[in-house]
Parts: sequence; C-alpha cells; structure tokens
Amino acid sequence: MKIREMQDEIIRLKKEKDICILVHAYISHDVWEVADYVGDSYGLAKQAASAPQKNVLMCGVRFMAETCKILSPEKRVFLSHPDAGCPMAEQIDKAVIENYKKNNPDRTVVAYINTTADLKTVCDVCVTSSSALKIVENIENDKILFIPDSNLGGWIKEKCPNKDIELMQGGCPTHILLRKEHVERMKEKHPDALLLVHPESRKEVADLADYVGSTTGIMKFAKESDNKEFIIGTENSIVQHLQVECPDKRFYELSKECVCKNMKLTTLADVYNMVKYGESEEIFMDEETRVKALRSIDNMLKLGG
Ligand code: 13P
Ligand code: SF4
Repeated sequence: MKIREMQDEIIRLKKEKDICILVHAYISHDVWEVADYVGDSYGLAKQAASAPQKNVLMCGVRFMAETCKILSPEKRVFLSHPDAGCPMAEQIDKAVIENYKKNNPDRTVVAYINTTADLKTVCDVCVTSSSALKIVENIENDKILFIPDSNLGGWIKEKCPNKDIELMQGGCPTHILLRKEHVERMKEKHPDALLLVHPESRKEVADLADYVGSTTGIMKFAKESDNKEFIIGTENSIVQHLQVECPDKRFYELSKECVCKNMKLTTLADVYNMVKYGESEEIFMDEETRVKALRSIDNMLKLGG
C-alpha cells in the first residue's frame, strides 16, 4: 500500500467510525496529514475536551491520552503506541509530593502536564509550556512548588520574580542533550539564523535563544517571522514540519541528538491499524483517580483561558 492510499483510507474510516485523531507536534508529518487537530500539549488538552467524536486516538505519549480520558470519561480514548511514554512523567513519586504537602501546607503544587494521572491527583494546578507563565502569574498564592521539570521551572521562576518558586530535580532526557556548544557551532555555520528553543532546554541554551516557547509557539514564530533561517532547539521533527510548511525558509537542527524515542514510536501504520482493525491500547482509569486528577487540569484550563 502506498502512504497516500493509507492516508485516504484512514480519513475515510475515521469519519465512518466517528474517531477524532489528535496528533502532537512531535509526531511525523505523514500522521499530521490525517489529523483532526495537531498542536502542543495545551491545545491537545483543549481539543480533547471539546471534540464532538465518541472515540479519540491520541498520537503522542501516554500522559496525553490520560489527559484526554480525564477530560472526557464518556469517550473511548486510545493511545497510538502502547510503549509511548514520557520518561519525565514518571520521575516523581506521588508519595514524595504527599509528604512534601504535609510539611509545606502553604505551597501550591504546580505540575507540568507531563506527569502521570496518578501524580496529578495530589497536585493543585497543571501547566503546559505554552500556558505556564500566564497560569503561574494568575495563581493567587505566591508560594509555589513546581514539578517535575527543573529547566521549565527555572525559566518560569526567572520570568516571575514576584513568586517564591521551589523546584524539584527532574527534566526531559531529550532536551537535556542540547548544549551551549551546539548553539555556538550552529550560529557559526548559520550566522543569520534565529535560534528558537523549547523551555525544557537547559538555561545555558535558553539564554542564547531569540525565542523560547512551546512547540506550537516555535512553529508560529518561524512562520510569522520575516527571517529566512532558523536553528530549532527542540525535538527534531519540528524541523521536518517547518520545512514542509515553509519551503521558502531554511530550518536547521540545533543537534541531531534531539530525538524523542517515545514520540518516534508512532507510525502511520499504527493509525491505520487502529481505525481499520481497532488494534490500539484503550485507556481505562478508575473514577476516583480521574476525578482527583481532573481538579488540576480544570484549574489549568480556568487559569490559562
Ligand atoms: P509542548 O507542550 O510544547 O508540545 O511540549 C510537550 C513536550 O512533551 C515537549 O517535550
Ligand atoms: Fe517527554 Fe521529552 Fe519526549 Fe516530550 S520530548 S515526550 S518531555 S521525553
């Protein structure tokens, strides 16, 4: 079967079977082309809440499918690949936060959305990279614990000096690979290129960036900018998408190492097998976990607008 034929069959079947296909920005472009919605974690969460279809296929990683189930318990939610997890989501144990809260009852626990549903049950508010600054500013309490990404947390802390933000050690094993030396090398090779970076990157990289933002933010910036060349400091699939969407511009990977193994698991064939044969992992969640985790996601949607 040719890629185009597979895509046409997916588009036909998803309508017939009432399936909404949500695709994260790090998934490959052939999957993007069959999506009902493509975007960053915040956009996906909002779409998950409003999509009219009875079934949702989340092409991304597990916490994204869980978020979808938390917001839409009446829908059947499927994850594109059963092994696609986000290692950062599992870096902090629920017991650690429960214990922290006992000792620090005056702090609001803010969790990056890249956390398990179980961990979300003991957090107060979720944020995504695109909504974090606005939400942290909007939280009434000035005393905050931010988990698990200390790079994103450090970036927010710098931008919100009026808040007392405590961090825990955690982070993305993919973005952590980006170093200042990569910036120096690429800037030397492409002196006219602007550097666009995800806030999960180290401070030494973010400090040198012309723009820091979510996957959607990076793509929007590159598309709207008059500049013709860009060095992309996030997962390398964004380079591929931008090259397709802006053929008159040039995009360079900050480092060839910045590849998320988990996002790379999902292929067009996984999507095809789900819509054609129902071969995909369905997400189930006990109601107590769902309701407790919902509070932090609801707070995110309220404070994030
Ligand atoms: P975005 O919210 O920017 O899409 O980030 C999600 C993610 O996992 C980045 O590594
Ligand atoms: Fe998780 Fe990093 Fe992959 Fe994003 S890029 S899904 S944070 S491991």
